Amino acid sequence: MERLKVNLCGIELDNPIIPASGTFGFGYEFADIYDINKLGTFSFKGTTKDPRFGNPTPRAAECTAGIINSVGLQNPGVDKVIAEELPKLSKVFNKKVMANIGGFSVEEYAYVAERIAECEQVGWLEVNISCPNVHGGGMAMGADPNMAAAVTKAVRKVTDKPVIIKLSPNVTDIVSIAKACEAEGADGISLINTLLGMRINLKTRKPIIANKMGGFSGPAVFPVALRMVYQVASNVKIPVVGLGGVSRAEDVIEMMLAGATAVQVGAANLIDPAACSDIIDKLPSVMDKYGINKLSDIIGGAL
Ligand code: FUM
Repeated sequence: MERLKVNLCGIELDNPIIPASGTFGFGYEFADIYDINKLGTFSFKGTTKDPRFGNPTPRAAECTAGIINSVGLQNPGVDKVIAEELPKLSKVFNKKVMANIGGFSVEEYAYVAERIAECEQVGWLEVNISCPNVHGGGMAMGADPNMAAAVTKAVRKVTDKPVIIKLSPNVTDIVSIAKACEAEGADGISLINTLLGMRINLKTRKPIIANKMGGFSGPAVFPVALRMVYQVASNVKIPVVGLGGVSRAEDVIEMMLAGATAVQVGAANLIDPAACSDIIDKLPSVMDKYGINKLSDIIGGAL
């Protein structure tokens, strides 16, 4: 449907809906639930140089209007992703996919970026410098504009494919970090990753999550995400991908008005694995309700 189309860093999407990394596996796991080709694209599970078993359990805690996770970037490592996961995906998905990558040093980010960018099906790289659940990489890289710039520069050097840097909300000045990435050649910014949170079990009087803290996501974080998307979109010239608590077609429209070119859906997939399919189906009638002809017309409309 023409009116849902958007262009993300030079690649046309049939619609702006992108399941967020960590909530959609490597995509093929959802292919029995609905035809995943109806998505704009999706961002696959954060991939690192070496395989990672992830954090000790419990890794999840329910909250009012959200969930805390501390998965710890569990993934089979870049070799297996290329040799096993992407071939399985290509059997059920005929669009470009967004490759989410993680690392524990600037060199590791560059290594994984170079390897994964060589895969034909990869359209964009989403560089995760915002995972709150690992030590020595992740959020530590994204909390400092200089480190964020260094990762961006290193990844930029190894690929011509669009590079989108995924930012953390757990910072005081998100705009300076986004601008540092833009200055080093990022093609886009995605935000927000999860908010650092915790729950305590009243019976044991101990944190529920084995790692004590984890990343909070879900509908409760939507206003925070929207505010940060608005702030970043007001201050950079590159496209912004908005995410954080999006669970309805109305949220997608709000995110786009705040400046998002495309919108990721995360925790909602954990509640209903068909959430993204449902949002795409509902978008046209919600657009009609608010007098929107084409989604691309409203990007940044509230700025
Ligand atoms: O722990 C995790 O795998 C989550 C990653 C993230 O939020 O970036």
